[in-house]
Amino acid sequence: MAGARGPAPAHPPRNGRGPPDSLGRGVIGDAESTVGMNTGVRLVGVGVGPGDPELVTVKGIRRMREADVVLVPVMSHDEQGRAEATVRAHVDAARIRRVVFALNDRGGRSERRVRAWDEAARTVAHHFAEGATTVAFATIGDPNVYSTFTYLAQTVRDLVPRVEVETVPGVTAMQDLAARSGSVLVEGTEPLTLLPVTGGVERLRGALASEGTVVAYKFGRFAGEVADALRDAGRLGEAVYGARLGLAGEEIAPMAELDGRPLPYLSTLVAPARRDIRGGKL
Ligand SMILES: C[S@@+](CC[C@H](N)C(=O)[O-])C[C@H]1O[C@@H](n2cnc3c(N)ncnc32)[C@H](O)[C@@H]1O
Repeated sequence: MAGARGPAPAHPPRNGRGPPDSLGRGVIGDAESTVGMNTGVRLVGVGVGPGDPELVTVKGIRRMREADVVLVPVMSHDEQGRAEATVRAHVDAARIRRVVFALNDRGGRSERRVRAWDEAARTVAHHFAEGATTVAFATIGDPNVYSTFTYLAQTVRDLVPRVEVETVPGVTAMQDLAARSGSVLVEGTEPLTLLPVTGGVERLRGALASEGTVVAYKFGRFAGEVADALRDAGRLGEAVYGARLGLAGEEIAPMAELDGRPLPYLSTLVAPARRDIRGGKL
């Protein structure tokens, strides 16, 4: 946790108040009353891919290196976040700050989650108030695909009305699994359905009834029910899963080999469309 406890960000204080505490936590004070004075401040959501540090774009690395501070979401201050290992491979640890999010909350739009978004947004506002012009926020995969960044950006916009928000696309877990398992995602006129199984296995069953490729996210603890749904739809044979892609403990295997055991939260499923002949869907 060297970076999280490292020195304060390089940007100089410009209002006489001290830098954020060494963990980048929200010692916010009157940040809200001063951020309105900031002009030209920028929040950049950077997708850092699913886990393999080589799956980050050149632009993503550049935007993080140019930022005054790079925030990484964590579940608690003393744990390395999922995006953090990748960020550390490319960015000076002294400019990395952990921000706590209720990443493991199963309560929907829970009070805990909302409080975490508010607090993280105040941390961003605080960095602007202290002189930062660019704050980067690293997120696994892509920042516009089921990412905490969406809620953070909305909250920061309310707090710092003049902030410019930008995103740098990242490789999604779906793309990494397709590449690693040799699954073609879509060809010809095939549709692609991406859904989180936390929205219900029935929705997955509905998607599997169609002809197209189905990708499921957030399905780890429902893996047994997902395997049943695939079997019922006659699509178990072609389906693959990837757990902890690019991270320690990675697993890539056919869904048929699962035997109903649960998988980690970081698990992705690809059930490719059925294809009979080459180019048959053109
Ligand atoms: C909050 S969403 C983040 C999605 C991410 N923004 C993306 O573009 O892929 C979390 C879900 O993404 C998928 N995921 C993200 N990283 C993964 C990884 N390293 N291995 C497998 N699945 C992953 C899992 O389905 C997980 O439940």
